[in-house]
Amino acid sequence: MGISTTRIETETVPGEAIVQERSVKPCALVIFGATGDLSKRKLVPALYNLMKEGLLPEGFELIGVGRSAADEAAFRALHRECTAKFSRTKPLDQATWDKLESRIHYVKGDHESPETYAALTAKLGELDRTRGTQGNRLFFFSTPPSAFSVLLAGLKKADLLYPTGDATTGRVSEPSGGPRPFSRVMIEKPFGHDLASAIELNRMASAFVDEDQLYRIDHYLGKETVQNILVMRFANSMFEPLWNRNYVDHVQITAGEELGVEGRGKFYDETGALRDIIQNHLLEVLALAAMEPPVSFKADEIRNEKSQVLRSIRPIHAHEVASEVVRGQYRGYKDEPHIAPGSKTETFVACRFMIDNWRWHGVPFYVRAGKRLKRRLTEVAIHFRAVPLCLFGRDEVCQRLEQNVLVLRIQPDEGIEFSFMCKQPGDDIFVSNVKMDFSYARAFDRQPPEAYERLILDTMRGDQTLFARRDGVEEAWSLCTPILEAWQQDDAVPLYEYEPGSSGPDAAFDLLKSTRHRWRPLGE
Ligand code: BG6
Repeated sequence: MGISTTRIETETVPGEAIVQERSVKPCALVIFGATGDLSKRKLVPALYNLMKEGLLPEGFELIGVGRSAADEAAFRALHRECTAKFSRTKPLDQATWDKLESRIHYVKGDHESPETYAALTAKLGELDRTRGTQGNRLFFFSTPPSAFSVLLAGLKKADLLYPTGDATTGRVSEPSGGPRPFSRVMIEKPFGHDLASAIELNRMASAFVDEDQLYRIDHYLGKETVQNILVMRFANSMFEPLWNRNYVDHVQITAGEELGVEGRGKFYDETGALRDIIQNHLLEVLALAAMEPPVSFKADEIRNEKSQVLRSIRPIHAHEVASEVVRGQYRGYKDEPHIAPGSKTETFVACRFMIDNWRWHGVPFYVRAGKRLKRRLTEVAIHFRAVPLCLFGRDEVCQRLEQNVLVLRIQPDEGIEFSFMCKQPGDDIFVSNVKMDFSYARAFDRQPPEAYERLILDTMRGDQTLFARRDGVEEAWSLCTPILEAWQQDDAVPLYEYEPGSSGPDAAFDLLKSTRHRWRPLGE
């Protein structure tokens, strides 16, 4: 049935920021893997936009560590070209770039060799003396996880990792009373490839840094629309009373991509959709959508509540995998470069999670993610229970009644929509499903920052709210690992092929049939 859309004109009041601007201290950001893809596409463009918005502090300096650029000039030139190409704001503003470029430095070296750390230490010392970085350091590991332990050991040996104290305030004092400089480490997912390896990675990291020095990036948490899940829930009074098993019938969380593996065949073939998207991004989103109101908006209060949700999800045991989880692979995947012949890696997953807590008992949370689908679309759709009774008598009216759905559109076309039944104009009762639609782009005239802008800034501030905590990561792995093991051990669990450009395998739709639910369409 078609849905007509009512566009809502939103009045935005340029009110005060709910959260006060928190101070960003001078620091040196050291990127390992500084000539890699992430640095070129995301990290340096993020720094450029932070600089453009005046958000980088005086005394901010960037040091790239890598091997492939010949020297500092080549490193700067490489990033100028890439920033011009990948920055969210275009064209490149030369004055901003010049300002950033004068703060970009390069240490050429291999992260295995002690000379690299010696050169890095010397450079950091020089920047402390000449540029006012005040001994504050952020280390960003934009490298494969296999390099993490070598990097941590190298930094520790060079005496570049020191306990930070209270990460949220950074106000720990030396006995002399002065502020203690901070040393923080940012690492990129994947945090392990199963529960055992995640525990091992966390154990290894904890031998070098405290939990409050470790910033585990899940870039979804840096997305404005993901952060807005909490604002929507807890800054409005009307949603929360309905946000439970009494009113919610089920929840659908989708992350669809049009793209395939795009030159990352080797990585992807060892990873698959469950590890790549569900274990981290979508379980984080689910936790935000399902968590209890935190005691406050402090990092650990929020992360405590998210962990509680993950702990309450009913584990899917090996014998249930075939009925609760659907895996798929798009036709043609095996012909992509660097994919193992006969690969059984899933490029699509759909599953049903049940949360065994007071609020959500009995409400299915359906989660799906896939590559090469019809459309790029990430959303959380809350389907409310149907009305108890149709009062309108005639079958043709009653059959048209649909559930109310509140959709939090994470991307693209960021916004929120609510669909509800409405009387069609006329002298008889006829109903239509109509939609109220709030769009970020229409409501606000500022382009939202990219996730990495927010995440880098928060690390400088010492705010861990938007970063994954050790227990959360391990909880998420403990949910996903039995599924991975069942797929590996049991050839009887089917891997469904689906057409590129489709909505995924039909089996994903069958998964919802027993509860008479239906996935929302991915596109017209
Ligand atoms: C990454 C995955 O974490 O997220 C990629 O490794 C995926 O496979 C990407 O394409 C999706 O991110 P976004 O921000 O484009 O939704």
